[in-house]
Amino acid sequence: MVSTSYQASITVKNNAIGIIDSGLGGLSIWSSIQKLLPNESTMYLADHAWAPYGDKSDGVITERVKTLIRYLIDRSCKLIVIACNTATVAGIDQYRLWFPHIPIVGVVPVIKMAAATSKTRTFAVLSTVHTANSDYQKRLIDTFANGCTVYSVGCPHLVELVESGKTKDPVVEKIVSNIFKNRDPKIDTIVLGCTHFPFLHEAIRAIVGEGTAVLDSGGAVARQVGRVLQSRGEVESNGGTFLFYTTGNPKKVSRVAGNLMDRVIEFSNANL
Ligand code: DGL
Repeated sequence: MVSTSYQASITVKNNAIGIIDSGLGGLSIWSSIQKLLPNESTMYLADHAWAPYGDKSDGVITERVKTLIRYLIDRSCKLIVIACNTATVAGIDQYRLWFPHIPIVGVVPVIKMAAATSKTRTFAVLSTVHTANSDYQKRLIDTFANGCTVYSVGCPHLVELVESGKTKDPVVEKIVSNIFKNRDPKIDTIVLGCTHFPFLHEAIRAIVGEGTAVLDSGGAVARQVGRVLQSRGEVESNGGTFLFYTTGNPKKVSRVAGNLMDRVIEFSNANL
């Protein structure tokens, strides 16, 4: 008996962290997790066949994400990260009800951090249109940014540009300048509320200038994953392997991912 339970706990520790996004944006979260928890194995699942999520309804997104979570659970993942703000606000509570036996960590815009650090108490949250219009984001603002002026800006097209690897394309500059054209001069902080947007950090920084803080969710999510694993005694210490799956075209996806991350990343097909 003793040796069986010992074996079981070793097995769970060795299992991968499952990470889900509609596409490559979640790699910005993967990268933070990998830096903070370098001994963990990860299994990344990009849903290119259904991307983008930003123009879909809550119901469509949650049903689809249910299938993706099941895929990763079937491959013995010990924790699931929904590395997508849109999929998180669409149904994080529902995912936890569907899969109560596995910890699920979501990603939401770091509104609490922006409210705590903005000196002018005025900031903008850039996200997909879906996230910007969501009740979830409205609740986050009401709860954590009471008394602040918060601009929720839904940004169409940017996700698609990242997915086609065009992070330095002049069209990105044009779209980002347009977003900040009539900017409230009191804005001193920009929250990146879509996991694709850290790949546009340079373009955004070039437009908003050095004096504006640009915050993303990567560090906060990685720390939360670490805390959850710690509390369950499931932190791995033996070094990890990284697997990447896409429901789209692995060759094309690997090429863009390699350019975005500046390292070789080989995606395989997930037939879903
Ligand atoms: N990366 C996703 C997010 O954080 C959105 C991408 C999409 O629209 O599919 O919201």
